[in-house]
Amino acid sequence: MRDQNIARAQQAGSETETVISIRNLSHTYKRGNLTVFKDVNLQVRAGENLVLLGPSGGGKSTLLRCINRLVKASSGTIHVFGTEVVASSLHEVRKVRRHIGMVFQNFNLIDRISVLDNVLIGRLGYLSTYRSVLGLYHKEDIAEAMHALDRVSLADFAHQLAMNLSGGQRQRVAIARAMAQRPKLLLADEPVSNLDPLLEREILALLRDICREDGITSITSLHDVTLAEEFATQLVGVRDHKVTPIEPGEFDHDKLQEVYGA
Ligand SMILES: Nc1ncnc2c1ncn2[C@@H]1O[C@H](COP(=O)(O)OP(=O)(O)O)[C@@H](O)[C@H]1O
Ligand SMILES: [Mg+2]
Repeated sequence: MRDQNIARAQQAGSETETVISIRNLSHTYKRGNLTVFKDVNLQVRAGENLVLLGPSGGGKSTLLRCINRLVKASSGTIHVFGTEVVASSLHEVRKVRRHIGMVFQNFNLIDRISVLDNVLIGRLGYLSTYRSVLGLYHKEDIAEAMHALDRVSLADFAHQLAMNLSGGQRQRVAIARAMAQRPKLLLADEPVSNLDPLLEREILALLRDICREDGITSITSLHDVTLAEEFATQLVGVRDHKVTPIEPGEFDHDKLQEVYGA
């Protein structure tokens, strides 16, 4: 499966284009004086589905948050689409964030508004400040949001309150919100860890198919090795202050689960 994934990424013919380049990244949280990374280097090429594998507390979320500068890394550089984000102004960071869709473990939906209104949040970056403050979406934004809902098979739920949906449906709404943004990069932080095993595969397959169709590069943190192997074109382990590439065949499955599993 993973060989097929890798072949697909290479077939895309875009393997030379680097989307993310991380150099000598270190991060210490001031609170607790806790060092999460030391001198991490990592490249992600266009079309890759990179999976971060690692035990709880290993630093997966911190790494994802450094990439979109929700966390400002202590030192080192991260280039995203050619822009260095660690030392950039917030203005520059915002321009980069426009191209980054996010999917979270806890879905991060607003419960008391409709499914469609949740997905429209993905369009906010395309509105003028005036329109975004007032929520004055264009017809095209609504069409884009409905198209995204259709792709996750939830168009019929557009006018329901988000709180009335099941867990799997809620994560599909969150995916539609990210897709409505037309991102070039998707960051997904444990997108399936609140879902039951049957849904995990379904949601990951949906994410993979959408990324493939739209040519979106993705970084996803997971803690299940089987799912990671099915989904990833590139696997890295995140633990002990390090981010280490895991080559296909380098470890056997059980060993991987032991070292990186939850
Ligand atoms: N805002 C924060 N302040 C201080 N320590 C944090 C903060 N966020 C995470 N940590 C710590 O950093 C380490 C890595 O956490 P995290 O990146 O969430 O790992 P993972 O996502 O792999 O579970 C953990 O020890 C965690 O307690
Ligand atoms: Mg985490």
